[in-house]
Amino acid sequence: NMSEQEREFQARIDAGVKIEPKDWMPEAYRKTLIRQISQHAHSEIVGQLPEGNWVTRAPTLKRKSILLAKIQDEAGHGLYLYSAAETLGVSRDELLDALHSGKAKYSSIFNYPTLSWADMGAIGWLVDGSAIINQIPLCRCSYGPYSRAMIRVCKEESFHARQGYDIMLALCRGTPEQKQMAQDALNRWWWPSLMMFGPSDADSVNSAQSSKWRIKLFSNDELRQRMVDQTVPQAEFLGLTLPDPDLKWNAERGHYDFGEIDWSEFHNVLKGNGPCNKERLRTRVKAWDDGEWFRDAMVAYADKQAARKSA
Ligand code: 3HC
Repeated sequence: NMSEQEREFQARIDAGVKIEPKDWMPEAYRKTLIRQISQHAHSEIVGQLPEGNWVTRAPTLKRKSILLAKIQDEAGHGLYLYSAAETLGVSRDELLDALHSGKAKYSSIFNYPTLSWADMGAIGWLVDGSAIINQIPLCRCSYGPYSRAMIRVCKEESFHARQGYDIMLALCRGTPEQKQMAQDALNRWWWPSLMMFGPSDADSVNSAQSSKWRIKLFSNDELRQRMVDQTVPQAEFLGLTLPDPDLKWNAERGHYDFGEIDWSEFHNVLKGNGPCNKERLRTRVKAWDDGEWFRDAMVAYADKQAARKSA
């Protein structure tokens, strides 16, 4: 049974009132927000790595500058989200320590290798496309700082998705080899992109409570279905084939039926056994260690400034 305070809190959530950092909140609400927002931030930061591989290999200066802008945006998305998480009383160092020690998760999608330039297209189109479908509802979630961060992120994310689709379009209108490269990237990124939405609703341990607290406005399967329905016509326009023989329009449902996801792959990647998990974490830990002198200098400088002011 709920305390008076919890009943009042739930009444505000049900009324669509935003919860702000200074408001009273159940410890479990605080905890699940720190979990989700920090892992979302980790996803943004780790998400920069797969694309970094292709900045020096971009086919034109224009594509290179667009890719750099996208990667820089993702660093910013990480900062907004770490800041939102900090409003819940947790420090940046604690959050990053959880990532570096393997305690915290980040999106499974970033544990796959980027094997060709077409992967930059597939990532923008499918990974950022999925992220947008997941993030638009979060703009209306109950926690103020998280919803405001998401509004800014979604504006930049739509550019990411469009530039990815533009890369795929150029390749599909190019030589047969270029079109095959796009098809190969689609074949490798399609199923992992659907896994971004999380386990099936039946296996989602956090969904029920997150929905009650209006952190999760649509279920994992609902958003996954939205992604499939949105992407099929886009693949057809490109003249590409989605790697799912069970994909079929279901007029009764008004949605596409699609094949079963390989949940053993999903759980394997979450356990740290994906193609690039170790490399991604090693890269992040190295960046953290290499940046220590810089962080120390910033703190020393800030301390000196503060001492001067109070002197
Ligand atoms: N990768 C890694 N972990 C995943 C996952 C995935 N694709 N899907 C689910 N999980 C984890 C969950 O975090 C949870 O573990 P935890 O309790 O230790 O955190 C467990 O699997 C069970 O999943 P649930 O459905 O019960 O968990 P949630 O209710 O948290 O739902 C979620 C999972 C839909 C990812 C939700 O956390 C969410 O909406 N997060 C915010 C959005 C986000 O993180 N998106 C990442 C996309 S990448 C990105 O945004 C970068 C962009 O620039 C491309």
